[in-house]
Amino acid sequence: MDKIIILDFGGQYCHLISRRIRDAGVFAEVVASDISYAKIAKDKDIKGIILSGGARSVYDKNAPKFDKKILNLSIPILGICYGHQLIAHLLGGCVVSGESGEYGLTKMKIDVKRQFYPCAGMPKSSNAWMNHRDIVMSLPKGFVSLAATRHSPIAAYAHPGKKIFGVQFHPEVSHTQNGDKILKNFALVVCKCKKSWSSKTIIKDIIRDAKEAIGDNKAILGLSGGIDSSVAATLTAQAIGKNLVAVYVDTGLMRHRETELLRSTFADSRLSLHVAKAGTRFFRALKGVTAPERKRKIIGKLFIDIFSEFAKKEKADFLIQGTIYSDRIESGITKHSSTIKSHHNVGGLPKNLKLKLYEPLRDLYKDEVRAIAKALKMPKEVTTRQVFPGPGLAVRIIGEVTPRRAQIVRDASRIVEEELQYTKYWPNIWMSFAVLLTIKSVGIQGDERSYKYPVVVRIIESRDAMTANFSKIPHEILEKISTRITNEVKDVNRVVYDITNKPPGTMEWE
Ligand code: XMP
Repeated sequence: MDKIIILDFGGQYCHLISRRIRDAGVFAEVVASDISYAKIAKDKDIKGIILSGGARSVYDKNAPKFDKKILNLSIPILGICYGHQLIAHLLGGCVVSGESGEYGLTKMKIDVKRQFYPCAGMPKSSNAWMNHRDIVMSLPKGFVSLAATRHSPIAAYAHPGKKIFGVQFHPEVSHTQNGDKILKNFALVVCKCKKSWSSKTIIKDIIRDAKEAIGDNKAILGLSGGIDSSVAATLTAQAIGKNLVAVYVDTGLMRHRETELLRSTFADSRLSLHVAKAGTRFFRALKGVTAPERKRKIIGKLFIDIFSEFAKKEKADFLIQGTIYSDRIESGITKHSSTIKSHHNVGGLPKNLKLKLYEPLRDLYKDEVRAIAKALKMPKEVTTRQVFPGPGLAVRIIGEVTPRRAQIVRDASRIVEEELQYTKYWPNIWMSFAVLLTIKSVGIQGDERSYKYPVVVRIIESRDAMTANFSKIPHEILEKISTRITNEVKDVNRVVYDITNKPPGTMEWE
């Protein structure tokens, strides 16, 4: 399958580049920036190379570099931001530190006489999203400038013969006008990639890969009932059949009717399903624990303990999880990315795990998983169900996690979902839930003073979990939610709405 590789120089939008290329129907993957020339030359599927942005200056002592011979491979190359500067620097151009930085939206003038990609067909003036200090001041021999801003005299360049291009701005960021067109043109027109990245091909590839990786061994699969693990279960069941045992751990921190729904979803499938009732074990381990990362680690470890016990009983060698790409990024999988939080199916794994880990969805984004679920004709309850984090309600309970506090969040969250479910807003909502705080406030209920917990209602929209906006839900719906929660959930007398986007907030509170 034709593909584009993205050399990761640590830029925070690196993953978005692959996202946009895949949207154009071409497979793209992020690789370490020190990948060797030989490895690329050997892989005939690679039809284009993108050098990502990064926080360093090309003059920094530890500035990440790449194998310069790659520039002679006759494979089209596009440098973005740091990548744009690095190509110019390595080939003899001049890069200098700008007097001031250039951050955010900038007006860019495009030389329309020079109809070279990536800027061919672009309007004379457009908005480009910038995030840099250094600038390219002069170009290596054979290169021509295609665009300029007030700060960057060479905001885009090309060597048409060698098919090497650079853009100082970030085409992958949605604020850049025609940015997606630039990346699409690079993949389809310049690199001539065939469109072959679709749900159908992904399904075929995953099943083939799972067969190869697991062979005749037995595997345990951590099934949460969410879309990721349900898709992972369906695909690996097709690959290894009876050798798959799905284990669902009821942690006591699940949503309303979660366990019943899971049982009914898989009732007619041939999947061998075990339900482990482990609420008491989880609450005991979490007693007195308030620090978010500690909670996550404890929960992650308990999951692994339970899976390991099952694996021993079933004589299984593999553990399959529904981890997706965004889980891995936020847990700090790449060389330069920082750990935001330990997603329990990634960060909680012990170093001495006896089971071999297999993650069939490791490279997929959420909306790609949803598209696969649809292609697999999975039940609507699964495909339209909101995302739910592995550590469950624990990350929505600030402070100590107890059965009573879990019940408050569960009941309040059920009301939030019930009030939104049949509105026109529901299809755009990524998650909607309640968060329980530790503080209490004074209220008046039934002519009497009350002193109870507030809950925070969080309703968010997102495309791929990496960024999110709070939902602009009409006040009338919020009022209904608030009235029902304070009427029906005994320990709550106040409801507040979270109006924080991601970033700076994360979606979950912990
Ligand atoms: P954050 O809070 O990081 O959440 O903005 C992004 C998405 O990931 C989900 N999430 C998790 N999923 N294990 C999971 O399986 C985890 O530990 C975990 N933590 C967060 C979160 O619900 C949201 O959809």
